[in-house]
Amino acid sequence: MIVSPSVLSCDFGNIQTDTLMLHDSEADWLHIDVMDGVFVPNISFGFPVLEAIRKYTNKTLDVHLMISNPDNYLKDFQKFGADILTVHYEACTHLQRTITAIKELGMKAGVALNPHTPISVLEEVICDLDLVLIMSVNPGFGGQKFIVSSIDKVEKLAQLIRTKKANCIIEVDGGVNLENGSLLAKAGASALVAGSFVFNSPNPQETICLLKKL
Ligand code: DX5
Ligand code: ZN
Repeated sequence: MIVSPSVLSCDFGNIQTDTLMLHDSEADWLHIDVMDGVFVPNISFGFPVLEAIRKYTNKTLDVHLMISNPDNYLKDFQKFGADILTVHYEACTHLQRTITAIKELGMKAGVALNPHTPISVLEEVICDLDLVLIMSVNPGFGGQKFIVSSIDKVEKLAQLIRTKKANCIIEVDGGVNLENGSLLAKAGASALVAGSFVFNSPNPQETICLLKKL
C-alpha cells in the first residue's frame, strides 16, 4: 500500500518538524491539500507552504488541488515542487487538455472525483491518467466521516481500469483508517491518504507502518 499522510492535519507552527517526521517515516508520499475557498468552502494554503515542505523532504509530493481554474496555476505547482498534480473533474471544463498540460510539465497527472460523481465520467480519459483520487468525504476539511459507498466506487474503478487496460493508481482520500483501509485495499485501492488518523494517533510513524501493511 502506498501511504500518503495529509499535511493538512499537521501543526503549521511546526511545519519543519512535522515534515521531517514524515520524511523519516515509512510514508511513500506527502499529501498536500490546496483549497481556494471557491471550489470548496475552506481555504488552506498555497505556494509558500508547498515550497517550505519541499525544502525538508525529497519524497513524492502528492498535491491535491481543490481549486477552481487549476489550469492557471499548473506551471507554478511544478515550480514549487509538486510531483503528482491532481485536479478535480468537477473543476475542469477541458479535462483532457488539463491532464495533457500536467504531463507536459513533467508531473504525474491525477483526477479527483467528488462523492456524487460517477466513475463513468472517466471512461474516455482513464488511459491518460496516472492516478484517480476517489474522495470518500466531501472535500474541504480534514477529520470528516468516511462515506461507505466509496468502497463500491473503488471496485467499479478497478473494473474500468482492467477493462481499458489502463495503468493508473487508485487513491482514496477522506476519513481513512485501518478498518476501512483494509476494505479499500481489497476493493483495489493502492494508495491511501490519511490526515487525522495519522496525526491524532499517539505515534504517527507507527500508524503509517500499520497502514503500509494493508
Ligand atoms: C479533504 C482533504 C483530505 C484531508 C483528509 O478535503 O482532501 O486530504 O486532509 O483528512 P482526513 O484523513 O482527516 O479525513
Ligand atoms: Zn486531499
